[in-house]
Amino acid sequence: MFRTHTCGELRLEDKNKKVILSGWVQKIRDKGGLIWIDLRDRYGITQLLIEDGRSNSIVIDAVRKLGREYVIQAKGTVIERLSKNPNIPTGNIEIDLSEIQILNSSLTPPFTIEDETDGGEELRMKYRYLDLRRQPLRSNLELRNRLSIETRKYLDSQNFFEIETPYLIKSTPEGARDFVVPSRMNEGQFYALPQSPQTFKQLLMVAGYDRYYQLVKCFRDEDLRADRQPEFTQIDCEMAFVDQDDVLKTFEGMVKHLFKTVKEIELSDFPRMEYSDAMRLYGSDKPDIRFDMKFVELNDVAQNKGFKVFDDAELVVGIVAKECADYTRKQLDKLTEFVRRPQIGAKGLVYVKCNEDGTYKSSVDKFFDQDSLNKWATKTNAKKGDLILVLSGEKDKVRKQLNELRLEMGTQLNLRNPNNFAPLWVVDFPLLEWDEDSERFHAMHHPFTSPKHEDINLLDSNPGDVRANAYDLVINGSEIGGGSIRIHDRDLQKLMFKHLGFSDEEAQEQFGFLLNAFEYGAPPHGGIALGFDRLTALFGGQDSIRDFIAFPKNNSGRDMMIDSPSSIAEDQLDELGLGLIPKD
Ligand code: AMO
Repeated sequence: MFRTHTCGELRLEDKNKKVILSGWVQKIRDKGGLIWIDLRDRYGITQLLIEDGRSNSIVIDAVRKLGREYVIQAKGTVIERLSKNPNIPTGNIEIDLSEIQILNSSLTPPFTIEDETDGGEELRMKYRYLDLRRQPLRSNLELRNRLSIETRKYLDSQNFFEIETPYLIKSTPEGARDFVVPSRMNEGQFYALPQSPQTFKQLLMVAGYDRYYQLVKCFRDEDLRADRQPEFTQIDCEMAFVDQDDVLKTFEGMVKHLFKTVKEIELSDFPRMEYSDAMRLYGSDKPDIRFDMKFVELNDVAQNKGFKVFDDAELVVGIVAKECADYTRKQLDKLTEFVRRPQIGAKGLVYVKCNEDGTYKSSVDKFFDQDSLNKWATKTNAKKGDLILVLSGEKDKVRKQLNELRLEMGTQLNLRNPNNFAPLWVVDFPLLEWDEDSERFHAMHHPFTSPKHEDINLLDSNPGDVRANAYDLVINGSEIGGGSIRIHDRDLQKLMFKHLGFSDEEAQEQFGFLLNAFEYGAPPHGGIALGFDRLTALFGGQDSIRDFIAFPKNNSGRDMMIDSPSSIAEDQLDELGLGLIPKD
């Protein structure tokens, strides 16, 4: 028997028990007469005690040979600690060691296996199996495991059916680049890895499996960020005989269930906001509504006063930072620098301090007298002691810029506590979005998303104004999920393809299987996919999803541990019909 207990299990009630533990040596403290070992496994840490003169000399000799991360089996008696450690659950006891067996030795690890490690990011990625021994990563994966169990429990209770869909498929229309896989048996042809199971889940609806779900890997060859990995996991779902409200209610129920069971948080009903309001009031389709600071449009009070920058602007828009009128010159300069960074791209920042004495001090005092500034304050509802920050320019751009500034102010003012959760449904997304590069409209979500019935007649005249039955789940400013009600009618689907610039032949070639399936009684259907890595990171209070994935890729899409991607042997290339050097 390797162990009677785990290293996280023993308590004072177990005093005097003879126990066997197995695990890794985290730390050895040798004070001459007394030696302590921290023994670690997945469940925790237990202290072993060896005392010169009392403990067996063979044991003492063996202990002196140990190094960090050696794997050992320890036998002994549970005793009460003299100096207790209230920070760990096993902190009241230690094991009086009577026998020890070294199960395996270890090289000295390249970084310390502690909560706060000295290892840099790349090094830890290279030795991910060592990094995963650290408690913070272990608890992240535990959280992920809990969430997947509770997700399955909830969906099972709602009659959802988990069905696996293939990974070797044909390109899916989610808008990112595909990862492709050459086919040996079909030389010159390629599979694509799915960006999502979108088309398959719709086919499952045609097949009559009216509530499908899958915790599924998706693959997208896109630029990476803290919340994006080239392979990531979705909680992917589809339902038949539902309208938008049914889908939102079902998944609001799921998210509430997860918060309740995993975090003991009871969320109230999620507010819903139209996309156009989200853009107008927050300059973002994923507003962080943990704090207010809504945009206020100021054209009518700020234009035609001789300030050319405002007069030439399509939109003059501001936010109020509460109780920030005492910001120093330096702080304001920093904010100006912030909005001027190339990633944000504003030309400048206008501020108005609403002083405690009722006067105003602005960066544009030359153009605006106290009366005018008072109008700004009234319009923005700024009070004495507040600071108004204003940007101007082309509507879409200036909204994006002010969104960044709003989030920055939210952070500076500690309004974005990761332990507060503010979910939001953003609904009524536009169906189409204009793409500057190809100079045509693209589906904003994907080409199977249904337009709002009342907007279909705008498809010809004002395609950009057509709204879709599409929705996103946003929590704390992060896009956690997205979905839509689909088109289930072949004629409407054809019309959509036409507007997306597909010829009949192209549509048939790419999506013929789906169009044909729609000839055989497709039920009305819709669904959603939640980003499981993002959801887990959110629960764990972090922005980056990397440490919630056991084996993630770095920012260049590389797996540092297995050193992938890598080149492959020439004969392997030949076999795949990909030989790059033509042979005679
Ligand atoms: P969408 O493309 O919005 O929808 O993806 C759904 C959710 O998946 C997460 N996500 C990602 N997470 C990590 N890394 C990535 N690279 C990444 N890309 C997306 C996000 C996102 O909200 N088939 C549709 C869903 C549907 O219509 O039912 C789809 O995939 O949290």
